Amino acid sequence: VDFLRSLFSRTLGLSPGEKVLDELTLDGVARYILSGKCKNIICMVGAGISTSAGIPDFRSPGTGLYANLQKYNLPYPEAIFQIDYFKKHPEPFFALARELYPGQFKPTVCHYFMRMLKDKGLLTRCYSQNIDTLERVAGLEGEDLIEAHGTFHTSHCVSFLCRKEYSMDWMKSTVLNAEISLLNYSHFVLLWMYFFLDIVFFGENLPARFFTTMKMDFPRCDLLIIMGTSLQVQPFASLVNRVSNSCPRLLINMEKTGQSEFGMGLFGFGGGMDFDSDKAYRDVAYLSTCDDGCMALAELLGWKAELEEMVKREYALIDSKDAKTKDKEANQSSRSTGAEAGKSDKTE
Ligand code: OAD
Repeated sequence: VDFLRSLFSRTLGLSPGEKVLDELTLDGVARYILSGKCKNIICMVGAGISTSAGIPDFRSPGTGLYANLQKYNLPYPEAIFQIDYFKKHPEPFFALARELYPGQFKPTVCHYFMRMLKDKGLLTRCYSQNIDTLERVAGLEGEDLIEAHGTFHTSHCVSFLCRKEYSMDWMKSTVLNAEISLLNYSHFVLLWMYFFLDIVFFGENLPARFFTTMKMDFPRCDLLIIMGTSLQVQPFASLVNRVSNSCPRLLINMEKTGQSEFGMGLFGFGGGMDFDSDKAYRDVAYLSTCDDGCMALAELLGWKAELEEMVKREYALIDSKDAKTKDKEANQSSRSTGAEAGKSDKTE
């Protein structure tokens, strides 16, 4: 009976652990980080961390991607990321991918805050649902990251015998620059058969590394920071229940998410988070934009100036790289126009 009681209360998230935070506020979290007892921080992030970069999230009413897909005539919004639908109609996904393709967006303050956690040796790993690669642009490396829903960063040949890796630039120039219309639909199906973005569609497995790394990281996590996600997609959402019962969880988001749902508990996903009940002892919700929340936490930690300096320095670097790329492209195009003009002179 004891065994069953403890199993149920663990599964339902009912048995409280040790109270680690002196206060369930951002200040309490900051004091805990500064105490030196918090050495392993995991960040779990979603589309809300990239909205200030100009990339829409999925479910925000009005502005989210799922509210703005009418032009693709989908049977339902999520179909665009559904593997069975994609196999029959790849063009809406590729058209959207072209719009959202990396290279046009800069990481946000929140992305650089995670980089700062890494630089200070506090980041165990960032578990991201995003495919926009902005964590990498901000300076997190492959080892620091689990891209749970895949990434635009690489592509692989889908043939099991081949699995050759293709770079982001290659994919961009060959696939995403091509004209996408029903007329060249068959061309795209053909391409899809051989080359494929490393994106996880609904109905596909998450990368094996997600499962192996999660088992290693979560039990030893000292603080879980969840940012910019509605926590509606499994199995990612249930990661919040993988940390120990004493591990504090900080949510920085525009709305409260991941709270207890009785049904979820019954189905083994755990009890979710508890910010407000009398029993709340470790979950903190800081309702704001991710950028403001990260900057507020940085200020409490005494890192504000450093974070601002990092953002300024990294933006300047990105701008100068962009300027060089544009110059190079302009030179190439003027050279090819010159060559074309020369050719037409001769023909005439
Ligand atoms: P959602 O769009 O479901 O949730 C984004 C969350 O971020 C919402 O709770 C917003 O209120 C919040 N938010 C938006 N902008 C914010 C900001 N600037 N600061 C703070 N919070 C903000 O996005 P995800 O949870 O990432 O999966 O969605 C999860 C998965 O559903 C995606 O990876 C994708 C999608 O279908 C696949 O495609 C497989």
